[in-house]
Amino acid sequence: MKIFIVGLGIIGASYAEGLHLKGHQIYAYNRSERPITQGIKEGFIEKDNALDKLTACDLVILALYPKYNIEFVQKNIHLFIPGQMVTDVSGTKVWMMNELEQLLPKGISYTSHHPMAGKETSGYDSKDYKMFENANFIIVTGSRSEKRDKEVLRLIANNLNFGKITVVPSQTHDELIAFTSQLTHVLAIALMQSDRLKETKEATGDSFRDLTRIAKINETMWTELFLENKEALVSKMNDFMEEMKYIKELILVEDKDALMKYLKEAKEKRKDFDIH
Ligand SMILES: NC(=O)c1ccc[n+]([C@@H]2O[C@H](COP(=O)([O-])OP(=O)(O)OC[C@H]3O[C@@H](n4cnc5c(N)ncnc54)[C@H](OP(=O)(O)O)[C@@H]3O)[C@@H](O)[C@H]2O)c1
Repeated sequence: MKIFIVGLGIIGASYAEGLHLKGHQIYAYNRSERPITQGIKEGFIEKDNALDKLTACDLVILALYPKYNIEFVQKNIHLFIPGQMVTDVSGTKVWMMNELEQLLPKGISYTSHHPMAGKETSGYDSKDYKMFENANFIIVTGSRSEKRDKEVLRLIANNLNFGKITVVPSQTHDELIAFTSQLTHVLAIALMQSDRLKETKEATGDSFRDLTRIAKINETMWTELFLENKEALVSKMNDFMEEMKYIKELILVEDKDALMKYLKEAKEKRKDFDIH
């Protein structure tokens, strides 16, 4: 397939390299020039790369932050032609998908997806297509999805060695992500910010380091993602605060039996993740 990738950050560049290795022809755009020249030098971007090659591609993968994906499509709308398929890799969907569904010309199908893999580092130099191995892959359908899109995305997922593939609408995606990804990042940040002791660094063990690994955050990207999914995230934060309130109460009143029951229940829920 001829594939055009918009944005050679960690995700876009990893897709470009991984998909080239599976025999696809890769063209790309990036705001700064270095990732493009580097990709051509490393051999996974075609030598005759140019922005207008987008018109000749079967699939366009938008791999910028949501608002820049929209800006790119707005600015380059004349390059898209009927028969093409568009997808994106963004971390939030409802708002961006609505905008893109309205922008894209007739005859172009659009189905979003979310690769559930990443690193604490970002940018072209962090690229590593092996990070997708066995990771979850969420296909997000919308009003511009066509039947063939799911097959194309399944092929992309298989080519990059993703594991489980799930198909959901955008609303469900944003709610799921608010819980599994955004709330966990909020917690890691709040944990770091609640540190009041000067000796903490010398006293951390695996549990603290495991729980705060993702606090080494890409603040530009996550600020945007939190704000774009504000409602769903705040709702999950409220659920979490309810649970914090409950466990705090059990500790305060020293209700040993209830506390043990609560911990045991959580343990069983977590163990269940490893089975399914
Ligand atoms: N990283 C993850 O863990 C992860 C996981 C799943 C999905 N995603 C999604 O993947 C998408 C890309 O994230 P990423 O982590 O790959 O990003 P990244 O490594 O931080 O790269 C950012 C990319 O956006 C470009 N960019 C930044 N500001 C721009 C602007 N004002 N105008 C145009 N381009 C701009 C950068 O261009 P320059 O090279 O010129 O700076 C670069 O290509 C996001 O939508 C994110 O939600 C990320």
